[in-house]
Amino acid sequence: MRAAVIIPAAGTGSRTGLKTPKPFIRISGSPMILFSLKTFQRHRSIALVQPVLPKSYFPAFERRILNRYPLSKCRSPVRGGRERQDSVFNGLKALPDDIEIVIVHDAARPFVTPAVISAVISAAVHDGAAFAAVPVQDTLKRADSASLVEATVDRSRLWQAQTPQAFRAPLLREAHLRAASDGYRGTDDASLVERLGHPVRIVPGSSRNLKVTTADDMVLARALLARS
Ligand code: CTP
Ligand code: MG
Repeated sequence: MRAAVIIPAAGTGSRTGLKTPKPFIRISGSPMILFSLKTFQRHRSIALVQPVLPKSYFPAFERRILNRYPLSKCRSPVRGGRERQDSVFNGLKALPDDIEIVIVHDAARPFVTPAVISAVISAAVHDGAAFAAVPVQDTLKRADSASLVEATVDRSRLWQAQTPQAFRAPLLREAHLRAASDGYRGTDDASLVERLGHPVRIVPGSSRNLKVTTADDMVLARALLARS
């Protein structure tokens, strides 16, 4: 089984309020993307790592990452697109045809573990598509446009989707092609597969696998790392 991981890292990180895009912000001295690159490099099921970056960061990536760390599985970056979905699609088009399983993992989630990677791969081999997720913990309310509550939503079967997400390669290709031709925009890759009517399996993720979105999340990420 040949598996590749696409690492979308071509966003601007507008919600951090910082100039530097998230993948290049340092956590304890290392650019955030390096954490994911190293974890996938070490995973024995992974044959290739395909980063997707803004074109303007190609030189920095080569200088600060490819030339400095032993990342033999890491390919040259491909350029991102307007939205995350476009970036993943660009990564997908760059993969060799003999790749059987494709994992997608956001550079903005630096604390993915080998166990979660293994779990999504196994589930994707078995079911075709799978992602890591955690059960919703907060009480959920639906409100009208004036912020008056309409209802409390039953959270017992609700999950917060994370990455990694893993797919049989032909299924993910079909899902992206169909989304592109329908003009459909999803916020993750699993949603593109769901709309084909294909089953998607949830595997347990972890609250440590946080996505860095705001400046406060950076503080949290640094604290988690200092404690581990
Ligand atoms: N991403 C990407 N290409 C885009 C947009 C996002 O590759 N056009 C990547 C980001 O770099 C990130 C992941 O997708 O690793 C998840 O996106 P998000 O957390 O929303 O990051 P940004 O889009 O960079 O941040 P923001 O939405 O705050 O601008
Ligand atoms: Mg974004």
